[in-house]
Amino acid sequence: MTKERALITGITGQDGSYLAEFLIGRGYEVFGVVRRSSSVSSERVAHLAEQVTFIQADLLDQTSLINALRQARPREVYNLAAQSFVPTSWHQPVLTGEFTALGVTRMLEALRAVDRDMRFYQASSSEMFGNPPESPQDETTPFHPRSPYGVAKVYGHHITVNYRESYGLFACSGILFNHESPRRGVEFVSRKITQGVAKIKLGMAKELVLGNLDARRDWGFAGEYVEAMWQMLQQDEPDDYVVASGIAHSVADLVRIAFEFVHLEWQEFVKVDDSLFRPAEVDHLIGNSSKARRKLGWQPKVSFPELIAMMVDQDIFRLRKGLPLYAAVALAES
Ligand code: NAP
Ligand code: GDD
Repeated sequence: MTKERALITGITGQDGSYLAEFLIGRGYEVFGVVRRSSSVSSERVAHLAEQVTFIQADLLDQTSLINALRQARPREVYNLAAQSFVPTSWHQPVLTGEFTALGVTRMLEALRAVDRDMRFYQASSSEMFGNPPESPQDETTPFHPRSPYGVAKVYGHHITVNYRESYGLFACSGILFNHESPRRGVEFVSRKITQGVAKIKLGMAKELVLGNLDARRDWGFAGEYVEAMWQMLQQDEPDDYVVASGIAHSVADLVRIAFEFVHLEWQEFVKVDDSLFRPAEVDHLIGNSSKARRKLGWQPKVSFPELIAMMVDQDIFRLRKGLPLYAAVALAES
């Protein structure tokens, strides 16, 4: 039987690695877009190297995207690539717009040029809500982004909806709230905390320096959130969905639970540095994913404390074994 084919941009990132694993598990032939770099950035997918066909292309280069789709001929295209770190978007606003906003149009144009029947998933974000007028946020909540990243994602969302309405493409926008994992980038607050706690526990660091401890987010486990992406592309009609746990916690909660897991008092180690505060903060996000639960049958299973425990545990394991930062570690190993 011929395998279904899927192409993932951003396969070397956190979500790309989990989505690739998930699709391979469902019998897909997976193609992954990687951009040219002087050093290899494929730690997260190293364990999948034999099962994925990597294609060199870049969101900045239209021709390379067209050629990637021509080579892979996928049924499903998952556009996960982006400049995804919010603070960098203030330092590199134009580049963030090029990758995270216009990159989406380049992908959609590539799809239109090669095969309009391909199904398209756009990685939209709860950062689009920014300073929202209502709580919790769902698919109808107006956007009020608070960073160049959030603004770029609003563009990516609207252009996806626009191409669906203009050209009849099967294009979906998944509005995902924060999702974390042991493969999360170390600059994001969850992993910065769990790695910091692991280092302190092992005597490799003495303090953990953070910014705003009062910000609240709706955090879930990335390994589960990628399943919702796939489910969106299996529906009869394309649509947009919020994917969230429906429970918000503060950064301070995350800190407390992570330190409790290794039986340490967080107050002895955590320092707040004002320079880590953002020019405009997103104070409180909490999602209402009842549409995804109802129509996709999706629901999260890993709780917030379980997620943090998993991340601290694996950070301790990696540090003890001297493993690379993003190496996939089987849960049973750690
Ligand atoms: P991530 O770990 O930062 O991964 C980003 C990926 O994009 C990497 O594979 C990166 O490749 C690739 N990339 C960046 N610029 C590119 C370019 N010009 N051409 C080709 N590839 C490029 O992000 P993530 O956490 O997996 O998130 C996946 C997507 O979901 C992103 O679009 C993010 O904005 C969005 N999102 C994430 C969350 C979350 O909580 N994680 C929530 C909502 C939405 P390199 O390895 O070469 O850098
Ligand atoms: N990164 C970071 N580092 N954040 C800190 C720190 C710190 O030292 N101290 C406090 N924070 C606060 C930030 O101010 C923010 O309010 C919150 O922790 C979460 O920050 P991040 O983990 O960097 O994530 P984010 O919410 O800005 O963005 C992530 O989630 C979005 C979905 O809402 C990213 O994955 C985006 O790509 C994604 O779209």
